[in-house]
Amino acid sequence: MQLNKSSFLLLVAVQAVAAFLAPSLTFPSTKTSSSFNTLSMAQDENVASEVTNLLEKRLASGKLSGTETSTALKATESLLNQLDELQSPTYTPEQLQQACQDLDIDTVDSILASGMAMTEENCDTAFWAVVNSIDEAEKQDLPLAANVAQMLHRIFDADQQLLLTREKQTTNVTCMQPDDSTGDAGAARKMNYVFDDGDHKNLPLMPGRRCEGGNCCDACSRNIFPTFASKQETDLEMFPEIMSLTFNDLAEVSAKSIVQFVRLVERVRRTIAHEYGLPLKTILPLQAYSRKYVAGTTQKGGGGGEGDFVTLHTDEATHAGYHYSCVLYLSTQGEDFEGGNFVFNDPAPEDEKQVQAMEVKEQEEESDELEKRLLEALQRGEELPDMEGIIEGSDGQSDSNFEEEVRRAGRTLTPFHPSRGAAVIFSSGWENMHEVEKITSGVRYAVPCFFTTCAVPEAAYQQMNAGLPKSDEDIADDWLHLLLAHRKEEPMESVGRVKELLMKWHYMCTPLSEH
Ligand SMILES: *[C@@H]1O[C@H](CO)[C@@H](O)[C@H](O)[C@H]1NC(C)=O
Repeated sequence: MQLNKSSFLLLVAVQAVAAFLAPSLTFPSTKTSSSFNTLSMAQDENVASEVTNLLEKRLASGKLSGTETSTALKATESLLNQLDELQSPTYTPEQLQQACQDLDIDTVDSILASGMAMTEENCDTAFWAVVNSIDEAEKQDLPLAANVAQMLHRIFDADQQLLLTREKQTTNVTCMQPDDSTGDAGAARKMNYVFDDGDHKNLPLMPGRRCEGGNCCDACSRNIFPTFASKQETDLEMFPEIMSLTFNDLAEVSAKSIVQFVRLVERVRRTIAHEYGLPLKTILPLQAYSRKYVAGTTQKGGGGGEGDFVTLHTDEATHAGYHYSCVLYLSTQGEDFEGGNFVFNDPAPEDEKQVQAMEVKEQEEESDELEKRLLEALQRGEELPDMEGIIEGSDGQSDSNFEEEVRRAGRTLTPFHPSRGAAVIFSSGWENMHEVEKITSGVRYAVPCFFTTCAVPEAAYQQMNAGLPKSDEDIADDWLHLLLAHRKEEPMESVGRVKELLMKWHYMCTPLSEH
């Protein structure tokens, strides 16, 4: 006969108390509490009555002290709690997969609460279920359902957890900021003149973070994630618009590409919060777009333009609100393009600097020598020797090598070779001056994104058409109106929408409990 639940619980309690009271007794099926998950042995009513009888005898003998009784009760209670855990429903991976497919948030939450975690496959399934639901709502001209936003939040959580299991290379660096106390540059800055940094690498610096108006972490670093995004997530045939996406123009962009793009940017935001120990709520994207670098082109103007290199700079110098930076790569060096390294450019250690300075001096002397020989040849009325021949002949160095030598003088260059799905995430201060080397062939796609820790003034939310979301339906509405509506817009409209999108980003990308 099978035991019903209450007699089964009683049995366990009795067994535990009995084991405590009579440690020397061995029951046919007594197990230690750690192996209580194999309770099937207890389904023998004889054991129950045997234990009960023994227990009654022991109790009748009246040898229990107050402490013993209370200890016995505690032991029983703790065992009963363990049993409760065992009694909670257990789920199968198939059930989680199905719940993701069905956008069944309640079931997903129950399963997650039972300790199971979403896998990459679950996230992928949930992602496409979300995209289908968005496309369907648009077709039928319906509002977005709350479970679309809710499922996105579960995906973002899982993405972050999954990323923690992947490779990461961190280099800690001392935070740096311009030293306003020295030189003309410092004086100019103090007086609030716009100062052209010109030779960016020679700017006088001092330790510490500037982080104007924000709340940055005191520690600075560079983090390389070789597999930040999967090949599928960066598949430009699957998500063609990701090659040239900007939030300012989404009218023609498919929902799948928009959601995938936001998902990647949100993964960066969460990674920054995690790496720098900052509350997620305090980090907002200020800028995120796809950028195309084409060999042999020149960049026209700022963000988004094509070009084949980026000159040495500091992100925080470009925009005082940029506190954390990321570049996510959508193409691979050696496959899609040649050249185009991302290079951290640091002052060389002093001894190395001296060696490099000597090398540069030697080069300069060589080129002086060259001029002297040319001049002598002229003075002697000789035919001018072949310049190329002399340069080659001097010691195999060419002019561009010399320029490169000057660029490297006194600097340590740390190149990163981009590959599709990799990301570089770093503090945006002067500790992380960087440049992008010229692309010599092919096309390189990347997503630069910049985050601020400056808080949005409360008043800004009050001025919005719809204020902060107060329900999951509100969050879904924000997703629809700020990202997915496929509206034709006037430039002014789109600027307003993007501003609102960035200010509401945290509220759209996290559940109400984290607002
Ligand atoms: C880098 O800094 C973090 C704290 O900001 C610290 O936990 C970690 O151990 C440091 N790593 C190295 C290699 O120094």
